[in-house]
Amino acid sequence: MSSNLANRAVKLQAESGTQPADLEFARALVSGLTADEKSIPCRFLYDARGSELFEQITELDEYYPTRTETKILEDCAGEIREATPAGSLLVEFGSGSSTKTEILLSALDAIAGYVSIEISKAALDEATERLKSRFPNLVQVPIVGDFSHAVDLPDQFAGAPRLGFFPGSTIGNLRPEQAVGLLGNMKSVLGEKSRLIVGADLKKDSGILLAAYNDDDGVTAQFNLNVLARANRELHADFVIENFEHVATYDEALGRIDMFLVSRVDQTVRLLGHSIAFAAGERVHTEHSHKYTVAGFQKLAGQAGWESSRVWCDEAGLFSVHELAC
Ligand code: AVJ
Repeated sequence: MSSNLANRAVKLQAESGTQPADLEFARALVSGLTADEKSIPCRFLYDARGSELFEQITELDEYYPTRTETKILEDCAGEIREATPAGSLLVEFGSGSSTKTEILLSALDAIAGYVSIEISKAALDEATERLKSRFPNLVQVPIVGDFSHAVDLPDQFAGAPRLGFFPGSTIGNLRPEQAVGLLGNMKSVLGEKSRLIVGADLKKDSGILLAAYNDDDGVTAQFNLNVLARANRELHADFVIENFEHVATYDEALGRIDMFLVSRVDQTVRLLGHSIAFAAGERVHTEHSHKYTVAGFQKLAGQAGWESSRVWCDEAGLFSVHELAC
């Protein structure tokens, strides 16, 4: 079946002559939508359009994480500087547009280099160019790659103290056991005697959380629904976008936001040779976003072999930035 799928995807690409059909997206979509409990992995929300919509989300009144974390980083950058000797290597996991990195780069004493690991080559190239003009003396090593895999740091920095950086509460998109695995992988990439600065969104009043993932302007809804539009664009599926609704829920016990696309009607969608039936009210899971307490996150980091050395929060206790050491 999978080579059949590959053939169809390649054929589509040749016919449309537009976007390259992403085979991984095709596979994940077919397997996620033919399962009993339908789901789509959240990484597929971030194509060019999805990333653009996510940028818009970060500017919404209701979406507090980005601006809160930025403010915390600006406030604690001096303290991070004090603990970071000149000649250190900064390593960012999933650097995206490297916006928050500029706060650290402005504060730190001459560092040996900046290694940015990012899956989107376009985002990586753009960020590298911008940082080049802003920090002309900075030695940059952009690496196109998936931060959840092992990455070898360039030999030229052997012996440099390592400072890892993983902002954005991206860690929240993983289940706790996967998060432990990822933090452990970062520890092996960075090596012994490293530090890691990581952002984690905090548990709070469910009203604030639900508003952040259900904004009044419907930008989060567009962001979520875009994955279906992407399937239409890249894989020639025939999703009728209006027949699906964005829903976000908060599970207090698990400390977790879940996003779903809910079918508004009984319907059948054609996708790469499959007919996929959706019952009215049936949900497709698209994203988890875990919220932690400070102590809960420290415990999680501990399970991956990291020790919490410092933690900074905003006054309202919305968000936390952790310094971990090993
Ligand atoms: C920045 C990827 C962690 O979970 O808050 C925002 C993604 N999804 N609104 C988050 C997101 C819906 C975001 N992350």
